[in-house]
Amino acid sequence: MKRILSGIKPSGEITLGNYLGAMKRWVELQQQEEAEFFYFVPNLHALTVRQDAKTLAINTLSDAAWLLAMGVDWRRSTLYVQSQVPAHSELTWILNNYVTMGELRRMTQFKDKSAKQGPEGQLAGLFGYPVLMAADILLYDADEVPVGEDQVQHVELARDIAKRFNELHGPVFKLPRATVQDSGARIMNLQDPAQKMSKSDQDQGGVVMLTDSLRVIEAKFKRAVTDSGDQIKASPSKPALSNLLTIFSLLSDEPVAKLERRYEGKGYGEFKADLAAAAVNAIHPLQERLYDLMSDRDRLISILQQGRDKAAAIAEAKLSEVKAKLGLL
Ligand code: TYM
Repeated sequence: MKRILSGIKPSGEITLGNYLGAMKRWVELQQQEEAEFFYFVPNLHALTVRQDAKTLAINTLSDAAWLLAMGVDWRRSTLYVQSQVPAHSELTWILNNYVTMGELRRMTQFKDKSAKQGPEGQLAGLFGYPVLMAADILLYDADEVPVGEDQVQHVELARDIAKRFNELHGPVFKLPRATVQDSGARIMNLQDPAQKMSKSDQDQGGVVMLTDSLRVIEAKFKRAVTDSGDQIKASPSKPALSNLLTIFSLLSDEPVAKLERRYEGKGYGEFKADLAAAAVNAIHPLQERLYDLMSDRDRLISILQQGRDKAAAIAEAKLSEVKAKLGLL
């Protein structure tokens, strides 16, 4: 049976980019009958940037709760926390020996992050981040990894690592494939459409957090930058409007062309006010469900424990197979 796997790192608040670019689709994919789903919170990945322990624990639980609030069905999908399945760390060490420094140095995310953080922030963990991600994927024989555009290179590296391992030791790993959606795979910052909407951004004016109050969400959309001219159209010369139209389309499940027709001859003010209302309408019920889920911590922990048990059984079997191939007693 086909396996679909993906994760959201608990390194900060979840953004509208995470939701529209990846997580919303994880929920929709569950409608496929002939597939199994693995959704997890990669909390070990969060350690590549300094974290406050309490905040990390809360973010880990709340990311799992967000997944449930968005519609991940824990009976249908295995929902778990990465650090609770030790096989992820163990396979990472092994896979470190099947990837070169050159390959890791070519990762654009490493280049971006290490340039931003300076020498103090250039931790070996940040460098090896894609190897842990490869372990996350390969342990479960995932066929498809639904992600936003920024993670595609990492999934491709996981595939290369799997191929190399298989060539040396026989067919152990499935070769995974990144899947990205046609539209919304890269949601941009509302104040700077040349930048990806990112939870690690310092200036949050252009980043919509799913925990923002409805008033703040509305204000962020109303203040969003637009392009010169007055036409509401998606085109390469209108990056800001293209981004806003993509967001509107994903929030309202209406094609961009239909929105363009609706706002023909209308002003930016009306367009942005309607977009703000669509965002509030979509996010408000998610927030309500999230607060409910977070109020019953024991239930949340028990759901994650069941997920851990299911995940660990699969991961440990794969790890044993790997160890046997390598002569690890
Ligand atoms: P993370 O936590 O940064 O992001 C979670 C998902 O959201 C997507 N995303 C976006 N999509 C569109 N527009 C944006 N502005 C935007 N920002 C984020 C990301 O592409 C991602 O799909 N390394 C991963 C987590 C991870 C993982 C894995 C994913 C760890 N192990 C194994 C898949 C498989 C990460 O940090 O995603």
